[in-house]
Amino acid sequence: MLILGIESSCDDAAAAIIETVRPGAVTVRASAVANQDDIHRAYGGIVPELASRNHVITILPVIERTLAAAGCTLGDLGGVAVTRGPGLVGSLLVGLMCAKGLAQSAGLAMVGVNHIEGHLLAPMLEHEVPMPYLALVVSGGHTALFAVTGFGHYRRLGTTRDDAAGEAFDKVAKLMGLGYPGGRAIDELARTGSTKRVAITRARVKGAPLDFSFSGVKTAIALYLASADGAATAPADLAASFQEAVVEMLVRPTIAAAREIGAETIALTGGVAANSRLRDRLSAAALADGRRVVAPSLKYCTDNAAMIALAGSYRLLRGERDPLTIDAAANLPL
Ligand code: KG4
Ligand code: ZN
Repeated sequence: MLILGIESSCDDAAAAIIETVRPGAVTVRASAVANQDDIHRAYGGIVPELASRNHVITILPVIERTLAAAGCTLGDLGGVAVTRGPGLVGSLLVGLMCAKGLAQSAGLAMVGVNHIEGHLLAPMLEHEVPMPYLALVVSGGHTALFAVTGFGHYRRLGTTRDDAAGEAFDKVAKLMGLGYPGGRAIDELARTGSTKRVAITRARVKGAPLDFSFSGVKTAIALYLASADGAATAPADLAASFQEAVVEMLVRPTIAAAREIGAETIALTGGVAANSRLRDRLSAAALADGRRVVAPSLKYCTDNAAMIALAGSYRLLRGERDPLTIDAAANLPL
């Protein structure tokens, strides 16, 4: 079955066509993303109204490009999977209404998908990942640990109590004048810096060892930058020290959670999964603990529609469909 995925929950408008024969066995025929970083950069963060207005402009061309790249037409499709939440409501509505229009006009089954479910399953786009596995979803909007025991069966084990890890990267990058989004700039700068130059307390959540907290690290960096010592610190050292703190705060609960559920495989996913230090440290910690880390390639770590098509595929294969009356939900729970 060929499935069209549509994703527009935040600032990326994306479409993909995947081919699937049974749940989890997929080939990505085409995947395209219209990125808006250039539009939001001037504001140092995502402006929701600009995001949705740009989706209105880009979503259909992205879908047309994807169909052309996959060499198929709407008539060849077995269904449409679209993100219905969580995310920015104006952004979600653009993709959702587009999917409804296509489903209605081409007589296709449509299912609404949870964006986080897409991230959880993304490693399966390229790897055989035996279930159950532990997934660390770490992006600009989310930082959470999930046990994945089957398609549609997910249990949240821990989450951030405040900022997402990617948000911390972006806010610290902004403080350091590295631009937006700043995760990659910090990653690159940190390569030549000392992780021990600036002492940063690793935050833990009392009584909840699998939860995360990143707002304290961000505040610590802001205070440090304003101090005399901060002004004299090389940016590379500050970046490396900050990154190391965030990475350690991600790795410890992740290994603890994998032990708790007895998962041999840890799936690392979301935009921050692109972080080179996180990949290295988590892989080393997992290996030392008799486990392995599976991470999608960069284009499937960040927001994309192939993961949305995959998350909708097992329901479409079962013949399920959602009514054309489904709504977008900014806080859709998984
Ligand atoms: O998954 P994503 O594209 O969008 C969300 O759903 O949030 O993730 C974007 C986030 C941004 O916060 C960005 O700074 C961060 O991922 N990011 C990184 C790296 N590359 C992207 N953070 C740290 N190191 C990187 N190399
Ligand atoms: Zn995402």
